[in-house]
Amino acid sequence: MVKDKIRPSLEEIKPYVPGKNPDVETVIKLASNENPLGPSKKAMSAIRAGLKKINIYPDQHALLLKDALSRKLGVSPAHIIVGNGSDEIMQFVTAAFLNAREQVITSKHTFSTYEFVTRVFDGEPLFAETRDRAHSLDEISGAVTLTTKLIFLCNPNNPTGTIFTHKQLVKFLNQLPKGVIVVLDEAYREYVESKDFPDSLALIKEGRDIIVLRTFSKIYGLAALRVGYGIARPEIIKYLNLVKLPFNVNGLAQIAGAAALKDTAHVKRSIKNNKAGKKYLYKELDALGLDYKKTEANFIFVSLKQNADEMFLNLMRKGVIIRPLTSFGLPQAIRVTVGTPAQNKKFVEALKKVL
Ligand SMILES: Cc1ncc(COP(=O)(O)O)c(C=O)c1O
Repeated sequence: MVKDKIRPSLEEIKPYVPGKNPDVETVIKLASNENPLGPSKKAMSAIRAGLKKINIYPDQHALLLKDALSRKLGVSPAHIIVGNGSDEIMQFVTAAFLNAREQVITSKHTFSTYEFVTRVFDGEPLFAETRDRAHSLDEISGAVTLTTKLIFLCNPNNPTGTIFTHKQLVKFLNQLPKGVIVVLDEAYREYVESKDFPDSLALIKEGRDIIVLRTFSKIYGLAALRVGYGIARPEIIKYLNLVKLPFNVNGLAQIAGAAALKDTAHVKRSIKNNKAGKKYLYKELDALGLDYKKTEANFIFVSLKQNADEMFLNLMRKGVIIRPLTSFGLPQAIRVTVGTPAQNKKFVEALKKVL
């Protein structure tokens, strides 16, 4: 009955495929790039204190959190918008800027929400070819047409952990026609070790039309609270605010985010754990002769010579949940989150048995 009433573009929407959550305590989840060390203790005590005020609506402008972010990032609060997860801000971007049938470019094999938010607003997604499994900025700029409005770039890229550099990004931005807005999704920025990673905030201060997205879901360990943020020129932020519902970010998420920012020891511990885990996993994957990508994030992309869904089921039977990349269009690849030393060991042991 209602089928003929929905907008045709909605028929193209594929539901998001999340990482599976464990059914029992003994199973470990290395599927969604969450922080294996858990949330910051400072965030947890801020939440406990905040519980007394959950009868009161949250600050619709998230001013305390924006203030804390502004001091940390060295931009004004007017450069910042806070979302119910950074994925909500992706939707603000298409809601504010995308007209029906305008083109949105991203790469093949990347985070699927860019396609989702494009289709919700009747845009035309275009998926550029990747090179060596990474974003190819040349392919993307070659795909730009007169109808291109937005470009979504994931850096480091989910699921490959690859990056493009500051120099490559500047060259790319210089080639773009005026009026094209570039979204840089930096959900995993805090894990990056490369010195060549883009200084995206400097590019915003130069006045470029870019929107940088970051999140409290990954290194800050607050995925369940749903809080992320966007940084852009105040003019762009002003338009994103026009499409935001007033109380989009709950009060506990706002105070937990502000407290987590102050917990630099937790962030340092998380980075240290990730570096050590990467090193251990590289060594073990090398020993197994597996083809994987060196990562700038908290997950590792592994190419298989077998079906990833089968590998997922086999590993789950051994108590480890990883992410098969079938929904990313890569049916013979998996992505594994770097866990604690014990979790990494459990994954390697399970992998050895399954292979
Ligand atoms: C590249 C990328 N961007 C954004 C997100 C979503 O972040 P949030 O939890 O802030 O919505 C994820 C989550 O997996 C991600 O991998």
